[in-house]
Amino acid sequence: MGAEHEPVLLTEVMELLRLNGMERSKKVVDCTLGLGGYSREILRAFPEAKVYGLDRDLSAIVRSRARLAEYAARFHALHKNFGGMGEVLTDFAPFDAFVFDLGVSNMQLTEADRGFSFQNDGPLDMRMNPDGAAETAAEVLQRLSAEELAKIFWRYGEERYARQIAAKIEETRKKGGSLKTTGELVTLIRDLLPAPVQRKMGTHPARRVFQALRIYVNEELEELEAGLASVKRFVSPGAIVIVVSYHSLEDRIVKHTFRTWETEEKIGIVLTKHPVLAEPREIEKNFKARSAKLRSFRFSAKSGGKTRGKRDKAK
Ligand SMILES: C[S@@+](CC[C@H](N)C(=O)[O-])C[C@H]1O[C@@H](n2cnc3c(N)ncnc32)[C@H](O)[C@@H]1O
Repeated sequence: MGAEHEPVLLTEVMELLRLNGMERSKKVVDCTLGLGGYSREILRAFPEAKVYGLDRDLSAIVRSRARLAEYAARFHALHKNFGGMGEVLTDFAPFDAFVFDLGVSNMQLTEADRGFSFQNDGPLDMRMNPDGAAETAAEVLQRLSAEELAKIFWRYGEERYARQIAAKIEETRKKGGSLKTTGELVTLIRDLLPAPVQRKMGTHPARRVFQALRIYVNEELEELEAGLASVKRFVSPGAIVIVVSYHSLEDRIVKHTFRTWETEEKIGIVLTKHPVLAEPREIEKNFKARSAKLRSFRFSAKSGGKTRGKRDKAK
């Protein structure tokens, strides 16, 4: 069945939804369904709520449908990336809340054949939607020049040894060497970086390169921008958006978007002047929570989406 996923900042997400009147009949979009940790709690705590869960990973859809079978009448799982939510949500709009919990799930990380983990050997895949058209991480390493790879490692991973790692990858390729597995990439990085540098990193020496490749392969930042832009089209007056992000590149996009909505477009208010962080006791139980940042925005009672569902359109 694969690993469980411990939902991060769940108490804080639920508190915000409660403050926004979720006890009344409301429609929520869980933009990153995963194993349905958020969705399950929303369905359990708010008996009138309907939840529409999106995930670009079909295995997440299949598993969360099974896990939430008891709520089938109020829960719809949709196989879609949130950047393209318009294609599947239009008929159900408008919505009262959107929740994003970005990045990969524990299930994806721990299944070695998905290729996300530097700790388990597997094919260098890293596609959240393996059925989609995107290139695998191995194909990216094979196709791009050392210069392009170095840019990716620096931009998306802030890897200080980006140039050296990229040059070594190119050299390996030229010699006909293989970089098809996560283990091969980890070994290349370990062999390249001097031992004292690796000791000082305070993290796994391949962590940053893996993060960078994952973000590039899945176009995660473009998806986030497109997803937030779509939200605006589907909100009901007074709707709330909650985003939990795990690195500064994502957080910057969320912060900037919410600020623009508040100060330039004047369509609502930022509810979190500072990001909400996990309590030490949550971090103790769940290592992933250490880097989580939650931001939230509420649309004004006057503003609503430009798109309406079929029933609304008919009125
Ligand atoms: C951190 S997990 C969510 C965990 C979930 N909140 C829970 O409690 O079980 C992130 C999920 O979002 C999905 N995901 C990431 N980017 C996505 C995107 N652009 N569109 C749709 N799903 C995405 C991943 O496939 C993964 O299943």
